[in-house]
Amino acid sequence: MSTPRHLASQPPFPATRLRRLRRAGWARALVAEHHLRPADLVQPFFVLDGHGRREPVGSLPGIERLSIDLLVPQVERCARLGIPMVALFPCTPADRKTVDGREAWNPENLLCRAIRTLKRAVPEVGLMGDVALDPYTTTGQDGIVRDGVILNDETIEALVRQALCQAEAGCDVIAPSDMMDGRVGAIRKALDAAGHSQAIILAYAAKYASAFYGPFRDAVGSASALGKADKKTYQMDPANLSEALREVALDLAEGADMVMVKPGLPYLDVIARVKEAFGAPTLAYHVSGEYAMVKAAAERGWLDGPACMMECLLAFKRAGADGILTYAALEVAERLARQG
Ligand code: PBG
Repeated sequence: MSTPRHLASQPPFPATRLRRLRRAGWARALVAEHHLRPADLVQPFFVLDGHGRREPVGSLPGIERLSIDLLVPQVERCARLGIPMVALFPCTPADRKTVDGREAWNPENLLCRAIRTLKRAVPEVGLMGDVALDPYTTTGQDGIVRDGVILNDETIEALVRQALCQAEAGCDVIAPSDMMDGRVGAIRKALDAAGHSQAIILAYAAKYASAFYGPFRDAVGSASALGKADKKTYQMDPANLSEALREVALDLAEGADMVMVKPGLPYLDVIARVKEAFGAPTLAYHVSGEYAMVKAAAERGWLDGPACMMECLLAFKRAGADGILTYAALEVAERLARQG
């Protein structure tokens, strides 16, 4: 790479002393290039069936699965703090799971009930629903499996039903997280035909087959179903970058309004390249394992948890992310509010 013009024109030391602007807090604040605001954050929640129920998630300290009635005050808290959107993940009761995941398009499923209640109770907060079959399949896979193969086109039909069902319930942001080929276009067409032209599609466009999803799979109960199986025939190989750009290009061409890169921190290069190449609204998912790492080290006294969390989230902004899904959204928004 050649030297950028602004660096070439900079007089050398001692005329230039970059530490001058680092000396005082006021100067650092003045020249800070990136900022983290509550409006950048999306809080994921795990939804439980029943009433008055809360269960801690062992591998996600500070995060609880909540029944819908207990979720409402948490989403109100998001609204008060300026968190614009929440992502909802259902913990489907085991007796509702099947090989084809048909509970995904039951209008009375847990997710649809949560959406209807929250849209009424806290209308100013955006609601995002994942579109993928894994919360509903006995295999723990995101798609329909036959003879050990995840079927692409058959799965798309199921995902379209699921997306319509969520939109019908009032879901604002439909987020396909399944990585089937062609699902964004099929979902967009079906939503438009059903009168949901305003439903937003957030495509998990570059989603990698990552080991950092472990705590999430514990939280929703798909880990035991999945067993030793993996998702490498549809989620991306962590070795690939160009392929991520092809995935994003296709999803945007099929009608995605926003794209996401997932996981986050190990993939900041992907976020930066995607933002630069397409200029589209780009979200990053600071996934469960990334959150758990900071929390676990902080519990042992090995890291300053709050400081590390802030630093991680700011890194996403520096890489070019417009928004960040993170389990730390509420705690970070509270810290930002205290700092004024
Ligand atoms: C399901 C889904 C996953 C996550 C979000 N949606 C897990 C997976 O693909 O196995 C992971 C989120 C996290 O780890 O925080 N399609």
